[in-house]
Amino acid sequence: MSEQSVNESEVLTILRGVMDPELGDNIVDLGMVRSAYVEEGTAHITIALTTAGCPLRATIKRDCETRVSSLPGVSRVQLHWDELTADERTRVMERARANARDTAAPTQIPARARVISVASGKGGVGKSSVTVNLATALASKGFTVGVLDADIWGFSIPRMLGVDSRLSARPADPDEDRGKIVPDEKKEGDGLLKVVSTGLMVETEETALMWRGLMLAKAVEQFLHDVDWGEVDYLLIDMPPGTGDVQMALARLLPQAEMMVVTTPAVSAQKVAVRVADMARRSHMPILGVIENMSAFTTPDGTSWPLFGEGGGQRLAEEIGAPLLGSIPIEPAVSAGGDTGKPVASTGSKAGEIFHEIADRIVNEILPPVNMAECSASSMTEVPVALPSE
Ligand SMILES: Nc1ncnc2c1ncn2[C@@H]1O[C@H](COP(=O)(O)OP(=O)(O)O)[C@@H](O)[C@H]1O
Ligand SMILES: [Mg+2]
Repeated sequence: MSEQSVNESEVLTILRGVMDPELGDNIVDLGMVRSAYVEEGTAHITIALTTAGCPLRATIKRDCETRVSSLPGVSRVQLHWDELTADERTRVMERARANARDTAAPTQIPARARVISVASGKGGVGKSSVTVNLATALASKGFTVGVLDADIWGFSIPRMLGVDSRLSARPADPDEDRGKIVPDEKKEGDGLLKVVSTGLMVETEETALMWRGLMLAKAVEQFLHDVDWGEVDYLLIDMPPGTGDVQMALARLLPQAEMMVVTTPAVSAQKVAVRVADMARRSHMPILGVIENMSAFTTPDGTSWPLFGEGGGQRLAEEIGAPLLGSIPIEPAVSAGGDTGKPVASTGSKAGEIFHEIADRIVNEILPPVNMAECSASSMTEVPVALPSE
């Protein structure tokens, strides 16, 4: 073995300690190290990143320098940067996702449960309304549906579903190291809703503010580990607005999770699309589909008023290559139902019907999940180009 190859394997071994925190694996096994060798005391390392402007570049650089310069005989570390090809990027993402699947600590969510995280690029577009109505529609078909309010301090699920009992705890079973939280249950048709929210743990919304110091992702993790979810067919997760770390935690803990994106019909959805694509890319989560909410309002005489514009849902769906699952009109009943804890999916209205149609699609159609690992990075660079210049 030549001296150089010994050096190279030593450098590679030590580089295995450098993690790409986004992808959750070391840069060597992810195939990001193009070459590594030592020449006259200088270690030359070429690293290919997912994108040239990867925000983690500085972290990876620092970590590589510290580790490699600790090798005897290395006095200098020279890093060279390259970019992964589209094919390589797909492979890296696949590997990261497979890793997440293999290393995920078991949660209380059964592996066969279909997990849907309801996300959006910004707040106020109707994530929580979509979550409670889809959960209600699914439950009314006889399914057991978990509803996790991951909006830890902006919680609204309990009010919208009309559940308000404090969560109870049960003592640990012999094979458990601690007791478990028991979700609040609500019967819906032949099915059952199992609800968990910080809103069911704190006394008032003011008390919830005390949770601000808590790491959001940690709280969500606890809800998956310390809640006795029991049997659930579906788990719907109402995401907090714009928190990539919760998304990442979910992808790690629930590798089967898919994302459903809620948007308004405003065509200025460009920024939203980019953010959502970015969130999906960073968490390598497939996108199940897009729901357009707050579509045209119809007056009693049948006139349609597209108050918030038109076409945004379809546009976003095309941009990210996922199906448009449905468009929910603006309807005072949706908002009133949220305030009184009686979702339109149970009381009936045009919007309620559409929620049932979407639920049917989720149940009956095996929607091929869109692999964002492949298209997100390209959509991030192509979205601005894809939009018409004004
Ligand atoms: N289709 C709709 N028609 C009328 N009001 C709606 C509709 N969807 C949501 N709303 C109202 O808009 C507000 C924001 O919705 P919400 O579901 O809380 O959004 P998010 O969870 O994304 O912040 C709420 O007051 C809700 O009642
Ligand atoms: Mg909400």
